[in-house]
Amino acid sequence: MAKLWAGRFQKETDRTVNDFNSSVMFDSRMYEEDITGSMAHAAMLGKQGIISMEDAEAIRTGLTGLLAEIREGRIRFTPEEYEDIHMANEQLLTERIGDSGKRLHTARSRNDQVALDMRLYVRKEIGEIRRLALAFMEELCILAEQHMETVMPGYTHLQRAQPITLAHHLMAYANMLRRDVARLENCREGLDELPLGSGALAGTTYPIDREFVAEQLGFSRVMDNSLDGVSDRDYCIELCSCLSILMMHLSRLSEEVILWCSWEFQFIELDDAYSTGSSIMPQKKNPDVCELIRGKTGRVYGDLQGLLTFMKGLPLAYNKDMQEDKEAVFDAIDTVKHCLEVFAPMLATMTVHPENMERAARKGFLNATDCADYLTKRGLPFRDAYKAVGSLVHVCMEQGHTLDTLPLEEYKKICPVFEEDVYQAIDLMTCVKERKSLGGPAPEEVKRQLAKIQNFLREKEEMK
Ligand code: ARG
Repeated sequence: MAKLWAGRFQKETDRTVNDFNSSVMFDSRMYEEDITGSMAHAAMLGKQGIISMEDAEAIRTGLTGLLAEIREGRIRFTPEEYEDIHMANEQLLTERIGDSGKRLHTARSRNDQVALDMRLYVRKEIGEIRRLALAFMEELCILAEQHMETVMPGYTHLQRAQPITLAHHLMAYANMLRRDVARLENCREGLDELPLGSGALAGTTYPIDREFVAEQLGFSRVMDNSLDGVSDRDYCIELCSCLSILMMHLSRLSEEVILWCSWEFQFIELDDAYSTGSSIMPQKKNPDVCELIRGKTGRVYGDLQGLLTFMKGLPLAYNKDMQEDKEAVFDAIDTVKHCLEVFAPMLATMTVHPENMERAARKGFLNATDCADYLTKRGLPFRDAYKAVGSLVHVCMEQGHTLDTLPLEEYKKICPVFEEDVYQAIDLMTCVKERKSLGGPAPEEVKRQLAKIQNFLREKEEMK
């Protein structure tokens, strides 16, 4: 197939070069954005008298028909035939409507065309990811609601530290996701500028109306400098950076679920439909989904690194290196969507074992801080109280006791301030319920946190 740009060349492109150069295998997924952009461009050309109204109309109907054909799967985008989606659509249009099709590319370059298509595509996908992230948060809220009183150990250094609840733990993730959604929205706002009209790099001599095109395509602003218009991939980097942070959050939760469903923890059990077996060990039930999410996080980081690296040395304006943005951005988008889609139902279907969580919380002296606080509230300086309880823990370990089972006379030996009511004060449920400082695990406080997230979700639902 002769190239659209064949005029200057005496030879056909080498086959390997053709395949190497072609991006249609992956950029054809932007066919709809490319057609939408062309429709707005043609309408502007017609309105400005740059092409005739008849040509503009023929282009519009031709593109509408082409869009339907592609949607029905009647077009195969192969590198043998097409270089990229932009040339493919133009070629296919011209085959269908003749000369009018050849006028579409007036006052436009593939450089500003691809810049536009990619923005439209990313804008759409941010909407999708945002929707999935909100649905995931919804799931966290449902679970949290059921586990306001499910006491579990809170950890630092993966050592049992202080008692919390499962709801408290889950709401931590809901807050991370809330920030992820805000970051995505911010990225979407940042890319809300029209690059089309930048031409190849230096604008155009035609009397184009960029504001009109921006309005047609739902952009709030027009990019102010043509060199920047064709060269900017900041928003791709920003998106992949937002997605990397989002994946980091999913990966941390995955890691915890992996720990929780181990025999060592037994805090939860994954549903059979969301776990896999081993080919040799008949007893195995593996959290492959979580491991894949954890693994795929590295992939998304890689996409971000790739973008940052190939962009860093590029002189203005367009360079073909920039074609590499597609696979990185598409891969990051696909990966994140896939992970969010599978994670939410996996959490929804898992079985929680509150009794095991509580048992774990009863061992490891999680109430030691509360025991020190007991003394502090009775007048001891905290540092002295801390020291006394340290000695108590030592006695417990020597005698095989916990703070709950250690006899009062042992308490009194170390500090006479202790009375019978210490047992009530260090009771696991008391420890949780009394931690009602803002942000803490007390059920009444976590209910407040939950209500705030639910409110956020409702507002987003209304915004869409
Ligand atoms: N396929 C190209 C890309 O994705 C489109 C722009 C090509 N422009 C050019 N001057 N070769 O970047």
